[in-house]
Amino acid sequence: MQNSWHGLTWPSNDYSRVPYGVFSNPEIFAEEQERIFRGPVWTNIALEAEIPQAGDYRTSYVGDTAVVAVRGDDGEVHAFVNRCAHRGTLLVRDQLGNTKDFTCIYHHWCYDLKGNLIGVPFLRGLKGKGGMPEDFKMAEHGLRMLRVECYRSAVFVTFDENAEDIQSYLGPDGVEFLDRMFHKPIKILGYMRQRIPSNWKLYLENLKDANHAGLLHQMPVTFGLWRNTQTGGSKLDRLKRHEIHYGYIDTDTEEDAISGYEGVQSFNDQLTLNDACIVDYVPEWGDNISSQFLSMFPGTVFQQFANTIATRQVRPRKTNEFELFWTVFGYADDDEQALRRRIMQNNLAGPAGIVSMEDGEAPHLVQRAVGHNPEGHSLIAYGGTGPIEDQTTVITEVAVRGFWKYYCELMDVPVARQAQAAE
Ligand code: FES
Ligand SMILES: [Fe+2]
Repeated sequence: MQNSWHGLTWPSNDYSRVPYGVFSNPEIFAEEQERIFRGPVWTNIALEAEIPQAGDYRTSYVGDTAVVAVRGDDGEVHAFVNRCAHRGTLLVRDQLGNTKDFTCIYHHWCYDLKGNLIGVPFLRGLKGKGGMPEDFKMAEHGLRMLRVECYRSAVFVTFDENAEDIQSYLGPDGVEFLDRMFHKPIKILGYMRQRIPSNWKLYLENLKDANHAGLLHQMPVTFGLWRNTQTGGSKLDRLKRHEIHYGYIDTDTEEDAISGYEGVQSFNDQLTLNDACIVDYVPEWGDNISSQFLSMFPGTVFQQFANTIATRQVRPRKTNEFELFWTVFGYADDDEQALRRRIMQNNLAGPAGIVSMEDGEAPHLVQRAVGHNPEGHSLIAYGGTGPIEDQTTVITEVAVRGFWKYYCELMDVPVARQAQAAE
C-alpha cells in the first residue's frame, strides 16, 4: 500500500490528521530515537550557569540517551554520551557535580574532561598474564563526544556533525526569544521532574496548541494571566518545526472575557483569591507579554509564564511514558521581592502546579483513549488547514501541524497527497 508506514497511513499532507498509532508503536519509538533525537536536531541539555567552573558537570538526556555536559579545563563546555567505552556502564550517576576526571564504577576506566581515555587498570595484566591486547590503544577508546554549541546561557548538543549551527536552527525569532530571556545573568533556583504516562509527542502537541490554555486551565483564565480574549499569537520558524506562542496581559476587559467565554466553564467570574500573590505578574522585560513559550523541535522548551522562567526538557522513555524535567531560574540580581514572586508563581508550574498538572493530565487522557487502539486519527483544524504560518490569534492549532510536518520529513513518512490544502 503506497502510504503505509509501520502499518499506518498518514491521511493528508496538510498534516491536519494524525494517525493514533503513532503514539503507541514501539518500532516508531525506536525509529524516532535514531532519526530525530540522534539526527539533525539540537537539544538543550544544560544551562551554563549550572556548570561555571572547570570540572562542573550536569547529566541530562537527548531523547532516551543519557548524556553529560561538562566544563573543561579550557573553559569550554564539552558533552558526551553517558556510557563507558568498555562495557557500556552509565558513567556519571549524579545530576550535578564537580570532578577532575570521570572514573567508571565497574572496572575503573578513567576519562578526562574531554572524554579521552586516560587510565585502564591492569592494562598489561600482572606478572605477564592477562591485561588488554598489545595492540589496544587508549586513544581509540574515548567517550562518544557530541557537538556542542552555546547560545546565551543555554547549552545545546547534537549527534549530527553536519547539523546547521544553533542560531540558524533557532531562527531569528528563537534567537530573539533567548536574547530577551537571558538578557542578564541568571541564577538557578531549583529543579522539578515528573513522569507523565503518555507518549512524548502528545506533550509537544499540548505545548503548541495555545487554544487549550484558555480552556483547559481555569486558573489563568479566571484571574487574567492568559485568556483567549487577550492579544496573542504564535510565530513559527522557516521549517515550521519550532513555535513561540505569546499572550499579552491587560489587552482585554472583564466584559470581553465575560462575553467571549459565555457558556464556557473555564472562565468563572464568581471566583476570587484571598491572596493573589500567585497571579501577581509584574512586567519586567519592557513589554506586557505575560506568557511566552518557545518549544523547539523535538523536545526543548523555554518558558516565561508570568514571572517564572524555566527550561523544560521532554525525555521520552517508552511509547506511553516520558519524563518532564524542569530547570527553574531567576536573575542573579533578583532582590528578595523578585525572588519571592518567582518562587510563589512557580506554584503554577511543575508536577503539582496549579496549571501544569492539567498539562500532564490532558496527554495522559489522550493516551488512555488511543494507546491501545491505533485505529483512527485526530483532527487538527483550528486556524484552518491551509498554509502553516504565523498566527495572530491563539484560537489555532496551526503550529501543531507544523510539528507534524517536520516530524514526517525527518521520519520519512509517506504522506497521502489528497490534502485539503497543501502548503
Ligand atoms: S564498563 Fe566501564 S570500566 Fe568496564
Ligand atoms: Fe497548558
